[in-house]
Formats: sequence, C-alpha cells, structure tokens
Amino acid sequence: MKTGIPFSLKGAEFRYPSATENTLSTLDLEIRPGEWVAILGPNGSGKTTLMKMLNALLIPTQGICFVDGDNTSNSDFVIPIRSKVSMVFQNPEDQIVSAIVEEDVAFGPENIGLKPEIIRFRVKEALENAELWEKHKEPVSSLSGGQKQRLALAGAFAMQPKALLLDEALSMLDSYSKNEIIKLISEEHKKGMTIVQVTHRLDDILYADRVVVLESGKVVCDEPIFEFLSKSEEKLRSMKFKKPSVSILREILIKKKIISEEIKSDIYSIKEALCR
Ligand SMILES: Nc1ncnc2c1ncn2[C@@H]1O[C@H](COP(=O)(O)OP(=O)(O)OP(=O)(O)O)[C@@H](O)[C@H]1O
Ligand SMILES: [Mg+2]
Repeated sequence: MKTGIPFSLKGAEFRYPSATENTLSTLDLEIRPGEWVAILGPNGSGKTTLMKMLNALLIPTQGICFVDGDNTSNSDFVIPIRSKVSMVFQNPEDQIVSAIVEEDVAFGPENIGLKPEIIRFRVKEALENAELWEKHKEPVSSLSGGQKQRLALAGAFAMQPKALLLDEALSMLDSYSKNEIIKLISEEHKKGMTIVQVTHRLDDILYADRVVVLESGKVVCDEPIFEFLSKSEEKLRSMKFKKPSVSILREILIKKKIISEEIKSDIYSIKEALCR
C-alpha cells in the first residue's frame, strides 16, 4: 500500500505583500497521512491561500508549515515536496503548460526525470482514467472547460503523488464525469493517498473523513464528516451549506432501521447496504 504524507501547520499565518491584514491567522492544523480532508468556507475565507501553503507555493509569513515533516520555508525541500504533492486548481487554464494533450500530462513526469517508457505508460493510464485518451494528440485549445479540468486531473494523477490537493478542481465537470473522478480519487485514497479538497458543495465530499471550515482565515469547525453531515438541514443552511440529499436519505433509512449507522453517506455504500 502506498503511504500518504502528513501536513502540519503550527501557528501558520499568511499575509499577502500588498495586504494590510492577515489572510490566514494562526492556523494550527494537522492532516494525517492518508486522511481525506474537505476544506469549506465562504469566498475569500483563505481556502486557496491555505492550499498554496500546503504545496509550498506560499510560505507562511509567521509560523511553520511542514509537508511530510519538511519545513516548506527551506527551499531545499521545495522540489521533493512538489514531487510528492500534486495540486489541481479551479481554473485549468492556470496549469496548462503544453499545446498538445499528451504533452501536457507528460510535463510533470518528465520534470522529475522519469524514464520515457514509464512516462508513456503513466500518460496513457492517466488519460484513460480521465476519459481523454481519444484526444491525446489533439491541441489543448480544442478541449472544453470540463475536459481541460479532466486534463489537469490527469496531469496530477500521472505524477502518482502521495498527496493530492484539489482546489475546486471538479467545479466544471458534469455530474457523470464528477462521479467518475471522485470514484478514481476514492480508489487512490483507499490505497493510502492523502487528499485535501476545497469545494463549496457538500455532495462532493461524501468520501471525505473530516471537514474543516474556514472563515476569515480562521478554522471555525473541524470535525469528522459523520458529525458534520449529521447537523440538521437548518444548521447547515445557517452555515450556507445545503445538506446532500443522500445524507437525508441515509438518516431516514437509519431511523427506519433499514441500514445501520456505520453505512457511509455516499450512494454506493447505501446501495450496497440495501442490496445485501
Ligand atoms: N495575490 C493576492 N494579493 C492580495 N490579496 C490576495 C491575493 N490572493 C488572495 N488575496 C486575498 O486573500 C483573501 C483570501 O483569498 P483566497 O483566494 O485564499 O480565498 P478563497 O477562500 O479561496 O476564496 P474563493 O472561495 O473565492 O476561491 C481574499 O480576501 C483575497 O482577496
Ligand atoms: Mg479559492
């Protein structure tokens, strides 16, 4: 089994050079190896800034950020960190580096010096998983927004990272593609990959282990997904979230003693429990 890596923020703050206030204030956050953490929060609460800190794209202006035990402020660790951690941004245009689909996916593996035959294998596998293999010779510019997002995910998968940071990386996908990608991420998670996922939709986090909510750069809620999704629809609405329909269904089935409390809040687990 592949082991995921931990992240550790100790009193980490971040202030952009042009800003007069901190975007992130004194964050103490431990993410365990192999954990799937969903980061939620309103626009401007600092989610992207946090994700960039976890990938050493931004260095805390106070405090420390450790990735797999390495302090991100030490520039010697930046390349090792990037080879272990892949990040996918919301806007795929921000991370397209090549004009042709397969070249774009090969860019990361080439950069870490993998052998050509390994690169070819990984590119094909990643593009097949992202359902883009039939477009491998095509110009990136011919892809739709959702396809570009799948291309960015393929690029991240081709790196076979120990941790995957997803910053609203599924936002442009249709529901079929989103489900397929979430299943794929879930397979990697089961094998040990650490996942940190920013989203605004609770329907996208049903496989997560834990939920962290940011508000104005501070953690205002940090709890297991079960606890978070057990909140009433009203409570979640007051936090500006919509309770997933599947969580409502799960609660009804538990109340009626049709399934047990251990069944997770995703449709596949519920279906499996019902068909047993
Ligand atoms: N390069 C920058 N320079 C100055 N301020 C910035 C910069 N990038 C972000 N900020 C500010 O930092 C705050 C947090 O931004 P961030 O992008 O981390 O929030 P977010 O939670 O990801 O928001 P969203 O949900 O809209 O993606 C915002 O007030 C934003 O204006
Ligand atoms: Mg953001």
